[in-house]
Amino acid sequence: MTVAELDVVTGAFSYTGRHIAEALLEQGRRVRTLTRQSPDPAHPLADRVQVSPFAFDRSLDESLRGADTLYNTFWVRFERGSTTFGRAVENTRALFDAAKRAGVRRVVHVSVANSDAASPFPYFRGKAQTEEALRASGMSHAIVRPTLVFGSEDILVNNIAWGLRHVPVFLIAGDGRYEVQPVSVRDTARICVEAGVRADDVTLDAAGPERWSYEDFVRLIARAVRARTWIVRSPTSVALSAARVAGMLLRDVVVTRDELLALEAGLLVSHEPPLGTERFETWLANTPGTLGRRYTSELARNFQG
Ligand SMILES: NC(=O)c1ccc[n+]([C@@H]2O[C@H](COP(=O)([O-])OP(=O)(O)OC[C@H]3O[C@@H](n4cnc5c(N)ncnc54)[C@H](OP(=O)(O)O)[C@@H]3O)[C@@H](O)[C@H]2O)c1
Repeated sequence: MTVAELDVVTGAFSYTGRHIAEALLEQGRRVRTLTRQSPDPAHPLADRVQVSPFAFDRSLDESLRGADTLYNTFWVRFERGSTTFGRAVENTRALFDAAKRAGVRRVVHVSVANSDAASPFPYFRGKAQTEEALRASGMSHAIVRPTLVFGSEDILVNNIAWGLRHVPVFLIAGDGRYEVQPVSVRDTARICVEAGVRADDVTLDAAGPERWSYEDFVRLIARAVRARTWIVRSPTSVALSAARVAGMLLRDVVVTRDELLALEAGLLVSHEPPLGTERFETWLANTPGTLGRRYTSELARNFQG
């Protein structure tokens, strides 16, 4: 009997990594995950993936040894305390270096659409630096750049829906005409796994088949969750102040200034033919009434300990 090939996926108990791991397991491959989390025994993948602690040191070599492909989702949404984009770039480099030393055949690196070394936004700049590090490593690689990822464990769309359900006035920053092009987490995982089996070095966007203006996108979600909130446009500074107050009340960072400005700059769209097929509107119609019922805290999920 031949032993199934092993892949390493970062964050199999988190969001995108979970769907990549599931797609690989469906193909009969074995999966090891790098994570800070101790698996909840109730998690559907708890007894289906091997777990290695996520430490950015020489222990990475051992965690990666024997793997065919590394699927890397590691990143941080914003800076806080000692968590910085600079550190995230260094950690990502350490991961790629370890993969090379461990003899990993290929790296699929999840970046972001419109990453740019000259971007005013450290998130997009940092992602461009990680892409460059991977290209310079000489390893066989694919760089997958999602736009805005939607799915059942998502934070962003869920929290927009939460706001629409729970606040009397929902502010749209600026003119609301800047666009978003959401891609489903399943499409994103499929695009990653398809990129993993290729042999050539590629960089491609993961984007869905539809685009909306941000205001229409918010109104679509409002209709889906039957929210009666008043949706109004406001200057970006006012929307940001409101988000800061909401963050204080919720003990979270609801949205950062850079995230809002990047959204307004139209960076959540792709300029390539879309590879995603799942329609956001269809997904919305099929989500049970749970969307936005509970607020999901980024700080609680990713910044504790
Ligand atoms: N979500 C989107 O809409 C979107 C859009 C464009 C690009 N992307 C990119 O897609 C990738 C996956 O995104 P995702 O939303 O699915 O991320 P995620 O699952 O929340 O996190 C991905 C990985 O990063 C680790 N991580 C997250 N926050 C961290 C923190 N503050 N400190 C240390 N480690 C942290 C997680 O660790 P644990 O395994 O320990 O939880 C996990 O392994 C990321 O590279 C992201 O930049 C996402």
